[in-house]
Amino acid sequence: MKKLSARRRHPLAALVVLLFALAVTGGLYAAFSPSEAKADDSSAQSLAIEEGKKLYAVGCASCHGTGGQGTSDGPSLVGVGSAAVDFQVGTGRMPAQQPGAQVPKKKKIYSDAEIEQLAAYIASLGAGPVTPTKSQYSPDGADVAKGGELFRTNCAQCHNFAGKGGALTNGKFAPALDGVSPKHLYEAMQTGPQNMPSFPDTVMPEKNKQDIIAYLDTVNSDKSKTPVASSSAGSAR
Ligand code: HEC
Ligand code: HEC
Repeated sequence: MKKLSARRRHPLAALVVLLFALAVTGGLYAAFSPSEAKADDSSAQSLAIEEGKKLYAVGCASCHGTGGQGTSDGPSLVGVGSAAVDFQVGTGRMPAQQPGAQVPKKKKIYSDAEIEQLAAYIASLGAGPVTPTKSQYSPDGADVAKGGELFRTNCAQCHNFAGKGGALTNGKFAPALDGVSPKHLYEAMQTGPQNMPSFPDTVMPEKNKQDIIAYLDTVNSDKSKTPVASSSAGSAR
């Protein structure tokens, strides 16, 4: 795509097109993260943003405002990043339905392609945590024991030692973590949905998130090999 147009057009024309595209779609975005505004993907990216904007207008704007600035029915989405959208829409939490103590997880209603488009549009409103790639969230080769230690220190107070979840105050709850995909686990840590604190990479590096994902994978896939710390906590309940 890039090669083709470079051959056909005058080099300056490509630059003009690029500058125009950046000015229109990426002004804000580029100001926040210049390294992300790559020339190569700019046309595919602006197409995704356009499509996402349409989906957003129909399904999200009533609560989050026409430009994502928020309303009394939903918070501002400027700067929440593509990871928050991928998590919220991918787990079916969004679009929210009825008001309650906590927006529940439900069957997702958008396709993966549509979720990417929504995420592209919302990311274009202001930079935030970026949807992780497979190499970031894959637990392959991660340290399960270290993950268990990190989980007990950072997550077990709400999610229980074996990730079985638990009630919090005022009708809120930390859900059970079995069956949650590695990608959504990673994104929940990145973005801290609702009453959960966030664990950005500066606080909890990618490697440690992978260790936690590997730990949960082990706890959930092999029930016979219940980890030491959880067996006593589990039977005490
Ligand atoms: C009925 C109102 C409603 C609709 C429709 C809705 N949302 Fe939300 N959304 C909310 C509320 C309320 C919250 C805040 C939940 C909380 O944190 O307690 C929220 C939170 C979010 C968040 C998390 C923000 C953050 O700070 O991490 C994202 C992302 C989001 N919505 C995206 C969407 C998208 C995308 C759509 C459309 C597909 C959508 N929402 C439709 C009400 C709505
Ligand atoms: C202060 C309590 C608290 C702590 C600490 C906490 N969480 Fe959460 N977590 C929550 C709450 C509350 C939710 C539900 C949020 C929602 O539904 O939007 C949640 C949701 C999640 C989800 C989404 C699950 C699903 O079903 O989609 C994941 C994954 C998750 N947490 C992982 C973690 C991990 C890993 C840690 C530790 C690094 C952690 N949490 C620490 C309270 C907590």
